[in-house]
Amino acid sequence: MRPHIILVGFMGTGKSTVAACLADRLGWARVDLDTCIETAEGQSIPAIFAEKGEAYFRQAETDALARELADGDSKIIATGGGAVLAERNRTLMLDNGLVVALTADEQTIIRRVCNDPNRPLLQGNAEQTVPELLARRRTAYDFAHLRIDTSDKTVEQIAEQIIGYYSQPPKQ
Ligand code: S3P
Repeated sequence: MRPHIILVGFMGTGKSTVAACLADRLGWARVDLDTCIETAEGQSIPAIFAEKGEAYFRQAETDALARELADGDSKIIATGGGAVLAERNRTLMLDNGLVVALTADEQTIIRRVCNDPNRPLLQGNAEQTVPELLARRRTAYDFAHLRIDTSDKTVEQIAEQIIGYYSQPPKQ
């Protein structure tokens, strides 16, 4: 099996949009981990957080990640912004694919996520919650093989860069 392409990054860095473009370009299947969790649990992400709590959500996230990585042909996997927090998840990702971290500057993220009711960790004032959470996760995405700042790039440019790296990773 060829490895998967796994997109990690803070909320609002463009993981789902880039995943869709990559899947189109490569003709691979695309999986959104949050959607997998919602299907497995039969509940929306905000409802899981509200009724079962974040720890329960994180376990469901690890289970969904392990399932998707173990299953079948190469695919594009867009993870949720906190999927990188558990060491087990980081190991699973590094062992099973090319891990690409998407980043964006603070103002771009705030613009993209403000008023989104589907992100339980950003409820309230995004101008305040985004910088706080970004600071807490400052180094959380550093384990990735490749890091791309999406702030000033088109989706096509980002997909191109990822496909180029996947086909010809730099020699260590
Ligand atoms: C989370 C990010 C969300 C979702 C959940 C928790 C996080 O996914 O998994 O709300 O901890 O950063 P997106 O990054 O797709 O918004």
